[in-house]
Amino acid sequence: MAILKIAKMGHPVLRAPARAVEDPTHPRIQKLIRDMVETMVDADGAGLAAPQVHVPARLVIFQAPPERATGPVDGEEVFDHTAPLTVLINPEIEVLGEERELGMEGCLSVPGLRGMVPRYTHIRYSGLNEKGEPVAREARGFHARVVQHECDHLDGILFPQRMEDLGQLIFESELKHYLQPDESEPSEAAE
Ligand code: NI
Repeated sequence: MAILKIAKMGHPVLRAPARAVEDPTHPRIQKLIRDMVETMVDADGAGLAAPQVHVPARLVIFQAPPERATGPVDGEEVFDHTAPLTVLINPEIEVLGEERELGMEGCLSVPGLRGMVPRYTHIRYSGLNEKGEPVAREARGFHARVVQHECDHLDGILFPQRMEDLGQLIFESELKHYLQPDESEPSEAAE
């Protein structure tokens, strides 16, 4: 087991499309999975994609709670470390409905920053687990968001590239000042 170095925005490995994993049971892949889990837990992340640890392979891990939780700051997703861990190899995403919603995201490869990112609210994803067995699930809310974020890493996409308003890209240290867009509208009393 080892804690791996995490690539940061600007490193070419984060821009390149990752290659399919031919044999999930290969000892090299099994060691990568173990090291990625250790690295994600150490870094306090909700998910990690292999390119983030400098391996251009289509493999992601994530922990997603069954229900979406909202934190002390509106729009901030709260990560539950007791949520089940999923290993997803060669993932495919199918969008189930056109509805999208904005949610606050961060990324271990974009340290110190958070941004409001639109994501599909309802998806189905499939792939292989760490034993090479098929996985197929429907996901909504935070679960769907994490999967879309992690799978984007396999296509060389970081969350700021999905943002529609870079005015909503902020430093983590300023989260406490962050206002939801609808709360920044002048209230009737102020008019
Ligand atoms: Ni990320």
